[in-house]
Amino acid sequence: MSAFEWIPSLFAADPLCFGDALKRVSADYASIHVDIMDGHFVPNISFGSAMVAAVKRIAPRLLIEVHLMVTNPENFIHPCIQAGAQRIFVHVEVPSAAETCKTLQASGIQWGLVINPETPLECLPKALLQESGNCLIMSVHPGFCGQSFIEATYQRVAAIHQAYPQLTLTVDGGINPEIAAKLANLGVAHCVAGSYCFKQ
Ligand code: DX5
Ligand code: ZN
Repeated sequence: MSAFEWIPSLFAADPLCFGDALKRVSADYASIHVDIMDGHFVPNISFGSAMVAAVKRIAPRLLIEVHLMVTNPENFIHPCIQAGAQRIFVHVEVPSAAETCKTLQASGIQWGLVINPETPLECLPKALLQESGNCLIMSVHPGFCGQSFIEATYQRVAAIHQAYPQLTLTVDGGINPEIAAKLANLGVAHCVAGSYCFKQ
């Protein structure tokens, strides 16, 4: 398991000032979270692989983590890796999740599965989870920043940590320092935060 880390989510930054926002977080954080949405898997649109390439150019020292909220993740894997993504998360709710995990595994980069707040934990495929070493637990409904943290996330995190103590757990959405402290106590290594990191 990795050391505790805040990972800022670029989606919460002012879209007309992404360059400045990146330069700012580059001094304070080691990684950046890039949300890719297709308007189909979630009711919103955000970035594509061109944004990953731009982040790489402007803030080359940040590790780029991509969160794919798309119905066809296969189409995004190679473009994102070529653009500089170093860790990619794919949703377990997507029909082609298992195939996409195989592609990610073959790519050699870090990868993991994401689970939505309403998805039963039993839907997480044990073998893939163990092979990846990572799991991202959504603590809001994906698609928008600025939502409230869903309290039931604490129990879900505790259950996953108990079942898979060796996994690096990430939680995404509605996180502030108070919530992050509780999550860290439950075994969470990475907290993704949009509003907290960019809207202060
Ligand atoms: C939501 C995204 C999150 C979001 C987090 O779909 O996956 O990464 O940007 O933003 P906050 O911290 O404002 O909930
Ligand atoms: Zn995200």
